[in-house]
Amino acid sequence: MFTPEMLESIRKVEATRAQRMGMEPRRMTAEEKDALLKKYHPDYREDGFAEIKIGPNAGQKAPTELTQLLHSNSRLLHEKIDLDKIDYDVDVLVIGGGGAGASAALEAQEAGAKVMIVTKLRIGDANTMMAEGGIQAADKENDSPMQHYLDAFGGGHFAARPELLRRLVMEAPDAIQWLNRLGVMFDKDETGRMVTTHGGGTSRKRMHACKDYSGAEIMRTLRDEVLNRGIPVVEFTSAVELIKDDHGRVAGAVLLNMETDDYLVARAKTVVIATGGAGRLHYHNFPTSNHYGATADGLILGYRAGAPLLYQDTIQYHPTGVAYPSQIFGALVTEKVRSLGAMLVNVDGEAFMHPLETRDVSAASIIRECTDRGKGVTTPLGSGVWLDTPMIELIGGEGTIEKRIPAMLRMYLNYDIDMRKQPILVYPTLHYQNGGLEIGGDGFTKVIDNLLVAGEAVGGIHGRNRLMGNSLLDIIVFGRNAGKAAAARAKETQLGTMTLQHIEDYAKELEAAGICTGGVSPLLLPDYARHERKTAEETA
Ligand code: FUM
Repeated sequence: MFTPEMLESIRKVEATRAQRMGMEPRRMTAEEKDALLKKYHPDYREDGFAEIKIGPNAGQKAPTELTQLLHSNSRLLHEKIDLDKIDYDVDVLVIGGGGAGASAALEAQEAGAKVMIVTKLRIGDANTMMAEGGIQAADKENDSPMQHYLDAFGGGHFAARPELLRRLVMEAPDAIQWLNRLGVMFDKDETGRMVTTHGGGTSRKRMHACKDYSGAEIMRTLRDEVLNRGIPVVEFTSAVELIKDDHGRVAGAVLLNMETDDYLVARAKTVVIATGGAGRLHYHNFPTSNHYGATADGLILGYRAGAPLLYQDTIQYHPTGVAYPSQIFGALVTEKVRSLGAMLVNVDGEAFMHPLETRDVSAASIIRECTDRGKGVTTPLGSGVWLDTPMIELIGGEGTIEKRIPAMLRMYLNYDIDMRKQPILVYPTLHYQNGGLEIGGDGFTKVIDNLLVAGEAVGGIHGRNRLMGNSLLDIIVFGRNAGKAAAARAKETQLGTMTLQHIEDYAKELEAAGICTGGVSPLLLPDYARHERKTAEETA
């Protein structure tokens, strides 16, 4: 239910709708975008970042919360782990049970490797499951991987690593076919041809979708496949540290059983980090669209073992998180809502930007509207702008919302908001980490032999901003490649003596730099409970 002030603003939105229907807002020039980003995008703020003092990225900045985790010691520092007592012995250890991890495991097994997935929650508890709008691939006649490359390269501010982006776009059509063969139920027209739409920053309609639960459908399929093929999945168990051998190669991981608190040793000839994102670190105090376990664990594991990060200071704030109702604050409102025709409008019903600008530009425009311009709509938790969803029904015909974005419709109907008839309130939400561990085109980290990274834990695929639908794509492309490469490398690897010496070396570096956070990392789970306890204590 809307407040009286919101209802008054809705009347203005309705009053301008007919006139807005006939116009396409102008796109910003490159100079306008640059100025806007510098002033309003959180990546450009001075506060909220801290310098990393030790390790391969020393001297560079990262969000304060990430720096704090990088500056923390291992929880194993004072533990006695018996590396001779091996609990799991595999060729390929995949850390993470999301789309990248599942894809890696499937391909590793296909290539003949003994593979195991370890995941701190359940397989499928991952950002993949939360993805809504779709997956990009240039597989229509009017499109090409080169066009896809140009869109993504420009959208990412020309910072993507060319060898990674090239792989992403070249292997995209095959990724779609692979998923289709596994049974993903993509939206198709009556002739069986896949339906594709635009996303922000795309020059061609290449977004393939499963209504607005594309990630859930892809994850369902991958999870079923992993389980049906009998790939072992160790759930509710976190990887808390990588193990190396005396040649400096990765040799497995120490695992923590989250139910019993027991430590376990997994020996592996190759390891794939597929631990996903960091939304639950709530950089700059933003809410997040991410799943509960998104706490940047893989970045910590890799960094402490010596692997460099790339673009760790750049984060994606999805322009349209839920601003109201408060119960679903920060939840994702898929970009597909704008692809289908909904415009972003302010408190006075004015369209203030082209609805399909890239995400960083869109988020910055909304922040500007709600701050300096004072044109936001007040909500119990801050402010927001309208996403004029009834336009979708006017453009696409009655029933379009129910047919194309049923999950959105249901989410809002739970709170008595019918988005077919009333607009919805949105504000940016922390959605994606653009940066992560640096890899080469083959998926291996450049510093630690036999260590691969796939999915959101990788930095550099998208540059400094990612286009919609390129994340579901990268988890498949880089997950599959990591699995194949890990299996091949495992065949030619003889492990040496296992060691955790790097943990002590890291502690010494911290000490030498005079850093003592008192905390341990990786975080594993967000610390909301601790915050609540603190608040209760403070108010007692
Ligand atoms: O808006 C969305 O549906 C999100 C997609 C993505 O992050 O790729």
